[in-house]
Amino acid sequence: MLPSLVIKDIKIETPIIQGGMGVGVSLYPLASAVAAEGGVGIVSSAVLDRLLTKRYNKKFNAYEAAYAEVSLAKSKGGVAGINIMVAIMRDYEASVKGAIDAGADMIISGAGLPLSLPSIAKPKDTALVPIISSARALEIICRKWERQGYRPDAAVLEGPLAGGHLGFQLDQIDREENRLENLLPPVKDVAKKYGDFPIIVAGGIYTHEDIKYFLELGADGVQMGTRFLATVESSATDEYKKAVVMARKEDIVVADNPGSPCGLPFRVLKYSPMYVEALARKRPPKCNKGYVLMKDSEGRLTRCQARESNESSFCICNGLLSSAGYNPDKENPLYTVGTNAYRVDRIMSVKELMDELKGIKSPQEVTSTEKQPLFT
Ligand SMILES: Cc1cc2nc3c(=O)[nH]c(=O)nc-3n(C[C@H](O)[C@H](O)[C@H](O)COP(=O)(O)O)c2cc1C
Repeated sequence: MLPSLVIKDIKIETPIIQGGMGVGVSLYPLASAVAAEGGVGIVSSAVLDRLLTKRYNKKFNAYEAAYAEVSLAKSKGGVAGINIMVAIMRDYEASVKGAIDAGADMIISGAGLPLSLPSIAKPKDTALVPIISSARALEIICRKWERQGYRPDAAVLEGPLAGGHLGFQLDQIDREENRLENLLPPVKDVAKKYGDFPIIVAGGIYTHEDIKYFLELGADGVQMGTRFLATVESSATDEYKKAVVMARKEDIVVADNPGSPCGLPFRVLKYSPMYVEALARKRPPKCNKGYVLMKDSEGRLTRCQARESNESSFCICNGLLSSAGYNPDKENPLYTVGTNAYRVDRIMSVKELMDELKGIKSPQEVTSTEKQPLFT
């Protein structure tokens, strides 16, 4: 059996956090199912206002959307929270406030350093958990938070094998020193220095044995994305789940140029229709959503690289919205996955997956060589 995990007095039966997956992959059906199985269910706040406006046919703003989705994620009991990306600056504060007011057990925040998170609203019983990719980043956050009278309740250390945006430049991904095993000890040292809070590891963790391995190395828990992506309860479209099941090792690549307008490398299935288009540089500069905005010379959040040029970036908002079944202008989907997506061979329920990860049931795996290409 795996040991339990405590974060800010919140007892978590099984030390598995289901990673936030935006846009629209980890919503309340997935998070509440994981919470009910003793793990931590995490909804994603990314573009949630638009998704809920469509779901309920009624206008939601970012605060209302975070509030509503967290409330639903918690409604079946267990531990549930929300992932709020720093990169979505426009909605950041409103999402944090909505989540805290709804009683989220935790806010997990990365894709940038969440330097002001403790000051946005009094966190009350909500644990604040930054995502970092190095000891240095954690040290910077701890120092900054100390001045706000707060210390992280836990931190997620995400290595270069993860899905979504990566906290590593392209040439750093394969470096020995950036293997999760090697990143962990200095990160643990920083955590000890600031009060010994739990460190959760993420990126490439796939089996019960992997979880045990990292717990033995000193991690307090794990965060997993890709395995939950292809569950029945995940809100990815059927086409997305099917593409994950069919993926072979050579189909999983890191998109950098063209890449995400955030400027961070982004792991994708190379046959994702939007990525194919972007590679062929056929796509017009068409971002009309504007969630991933950067500051202009006057400090206003107005700039998006994918609006300005289609040379180096693709419109991640439209691509990911399409992967969540929301494509009013018929945009093509963009499928992000972790490095181990090629090992996923079928769609299973959260209960079945959690039983396997807890070590209650042994896995059935097929090798990627048995898979046929999905797209030609
Ligand atoms: C489909 C997908 C979407 C993701 N979206 C986000 C996100 O919106 N915010 C975030 O911080 N991490 C995101 N991630 C990263 C996961 O939360 C998780 O930390 C990571 O995938 C762990 O690696 P694994 O997929 O190998 O288990 C995403 C990952 C995937 C696969």
